[in-house]
Amino acid sequence: MNITVIGTGYVGLVVGACLAETGNPVVCADLDQNKIEGLQRNILPIYEPGLDDFVERNQGQGRLKFTTDVPAAIGSADVIFIAVGTPPDEDGSADLRHVIDVADQIGKHMRRELVIVTKSTVPVGTAAKVAAAVGVHATRPFHMCSNPEFLKEGAAIDDFMKPDRVVIGVDSDHARSVMAELYAPFVRTGKPIIFMDIPSAEMTKYAANAMLATRISFMNEIANLCERVGADVDNVRKGIGSDGRIGPAFLFPGPGYGGSCFPKDVKALVRTASECGVPLRVLESVEEANEAQKRRLFGKLRALLGDVRGHRIAIWGLAFKPNTDDMREAASLVLIDELLASGASVVAHDPVAMHETRRRLGDRIEYAKGSYDALTGADALVIVTDWNEYRHPDFGRIKQALKTPVIVDGRNLYDTRKMHGLGFRYASIGREGRT
Ligand SMILES: NC(=O)c1ccc[n+]([C@@H]2O[C@H](COP(=O)([O-])OP(=O)(O)OC[C@H]3O[C@@H](n4cnc5c(N)ncnc54)[C@H](O)[C@@H]3O)[C@@H](O)[C@H]2O)c1
Repeated sequence: MNITVIGTGYVGLVVGACLAETGNPVVCADLDQNKIEGLQRNILPIYEPGLDDFVERNQGQGRLKFTTDVPAAIGSADVIFIAVGTPPDEDGSADLRHVIDVADQIGKHMRRELVIVTKSTVPVGTAAKVAAAVGVHATRPFHMCSNPEFLKEGAAIDDFMKPDRVVIGVDSDHARSVMAELYAPFVRTGKPIIFMDIPSAEMTKYAANAMLATRISFMNEIANLCERVGADVDNVRKGIGSDGRIGPAFLFPGPGYGGSCFPKDVKALVRTASECGVPLRVLESVEEANEAQKRRLFGKLRALLGDVRGHRIAIWGLAFKPNTDDMREAASLVLIDELLASGASVVAHDPVAMHETRRRLGDRIEYAKGSYDALTGADALVIVTDWNEYRHPDFGRIKQALKTPVIVDGRNLYDTRKMHGLGFRYASIGREGRT
């Protein structure tokens, strides 16, 4: 089966590389010439652990090809995955422009019977819109399929190669059997492929992200309350997470969720719901709570330091989470904006996201080569992303480098009592009750 993946971002690149890894001939097509030229030389546009090896190996063995010639990539395909971006429109709904552009191209350039798979996260009804757009020009039969992607940036290869489950919406036996064959190597340990109707598959993706975002906002608000009532959110988290009905994942409080998916998918679902006259009040609050949470680090810093004007603030961690260089909707960007607007200067460190931050912010902040370099002469340290390398630092060195021993820890990396014992003025999320 010849596979074409259109859109070579986080999702398309991972899908293409993993399908090539299991022996399929795969063409990845994208309009971005720089990206494709880089990939042809095994230079990846993103940081994703393990992905570079997959790309290099499969490209070297001729199973994985990269092109900007979208029509040719469509013409040679038996199965096409649409993995282009679906950014939020001004009103929060998913902007389907790229998806429909691709559908139009598929209709014009298809040369064989096709299975067309929407991999992008798209609202219910999109597969039908894609089918209509393809159908305007189609000269061959085609079958629609919705196959939402659940990979996590930073663990994307593992998530694709060993998924918890694969969700596939189909409306024909042909699409069902093609997809079952394609995914068979990834579910050999018995993890399920869950076949369903197409609208349910489209909805499943949004419901999954909405649920995860809800857990995060819920815990952030519980953490904020813990601070007021003298409780410790770490204890509360363990106490509720060990309940089999609740489970331990996604209960860590922090500086608010970011990334390319949760913020935009929550907004899009809220928008769809209000258009349908079925308000999702819980999710509206989830989003509102998250916006407020992104401002808490600044508030905590001000509580410890007073007015930040003229102060130099060090930040550890810029990416929206560890093991990625993705800065979309990162909490660090909100903090940096607030600091700069209040007259502070910022010096930041991140193991991989400084290049991407510089692309966005240029010289508005300083970039430190190493984590300790950021601290020299700084008035305080704020930890935004929980990279492993920040977990066990040399506190003596930190104290010596900082002008005042102030740390705001947005990820609860350190023990509160120990930090106070070491003489730090230390704030974290939901644990002040312990001191
Ligand atoms: N990033 C994630 O972790 C993740 C996880 C699950 C699902 N998703 C969903 O997958 C989709 C893609 O996300 P992403 O993060 O990979 O996006 P991205 O922005 O990183 O990549 C999208 C790519 O599509 C290309 N593109 C746009 N229009 C095109 C066209 N007409 N023809 C060819 N290429 C075109 C762009 O040049 C870009 O390289 C989104 O709907 C997203 O919500 C993302």
